Amino acid sequence: MLLKWGITFLFTVLATAYAASENRASVILVPGLYHEPTAFNKVVGVLGKSHYKRIFPINLPSVGSLKGRKDDVAAVRTVLIKELEEGRDVVLVGNSYGGTVISDAVEGLKKHSKALSRSESIAGRSPRPRGQILGLIYLSGFLPYIQDVLHPELKPDIRSTAPAYMRFTDDGKIYPDGDPNNPPQLLFYNDLSEKEANFWTRKLHFSSVDSAAANSTYIPYTGDFRCLYVIGKKDNAVPEAFARTWIEQEGAKFEVDYLDAGHIPMLGQPEKVARIIRGVAEGKERRY
Ligand SMILES: *[C@@H]1O[C@H](CO)[C@@H](O)[C@H](O)[C@H]1NC(C)=O
Repeated sequence: MLLKWGITFLFTVLATAYAASENRASVILVPGLYHEPTAFNKVVGVLGKSHYKRIFPINLPSVGSLKGRKDDVAAVRTVLIKELEEGRDVVLVGNSYGGTVISDAVEGLKKHSKALSRSESIAGRSPRPRGQILGLIYLSGFLPYIQDVLHPELKPDIRSTAPAYMRFTDDGKIYPDGDPNNPPQLLFYNDLSEKEANFWTRKLHFSSVDSAAANSTYIPYTGDFRCLYVIGKKDNAVPEAFARTWIEQEGAKFEVDYLDAGHIPMLGQPEKVARIIRGVAEGKERRY
């Protein structure tokens, strides 16, 4: 009798876990300049334990090469469109410049936006496609401004506005070591142990100027999509005051969250980053 109960219990647990993994959203993870997708490895591990199976860390073509923004966006869109067409819901996560890439990647996909589904179905429009974009999460996002998209002709060249830590070379590369007082160990990894900070600093590559300087053509954060901006309280690259220049633009509609983290919160606070991703993936509403 006990054995039978045991088997029934085990079967129920397995079936529940299987059903949960079937319903989990796909998660696309986009690193920033200089970074390999391995920066998300810890988060991938945590999400895996919560039965997330379709997790896609993106290897940006512009990292360690002269490829441009278009190639980065295409790398994300290939995965995104496939998941949507197969009827899966998707959450996009971008760290720093990765936030710009996920923003450009959802251009033209408004009909898949979960944020719009309720009002549109009330309006009695055509049936919605099955795969939905549940939200965009900006981890210390380095984003285009609304004004830059409306008036690209007024957008200053990145070389004149970039923070001192960005070092540009004449052959089209950018490095993150332009400020001797703020080397990558402090700029990016100040919330990690010295050993880990050195480990990740050694893994950095150059990025292409073209990826960082390109014009964006679409802003997703003015109502088309659910957008959550996560500020790192210890961020030395995009400190809160800098983040607020995006959040407080007229017309911007961000939810805002905080982490006690540096610029690469996936390394410093992987459990909490995974929890934030799950919050959006599992449709939890935030109130501010
Ligand atoms: C952005 O667009 C403006 C106006 O069309 C143009 O002058 C500028 O060269 C573009 N910048 C880049 C990096 O393509």
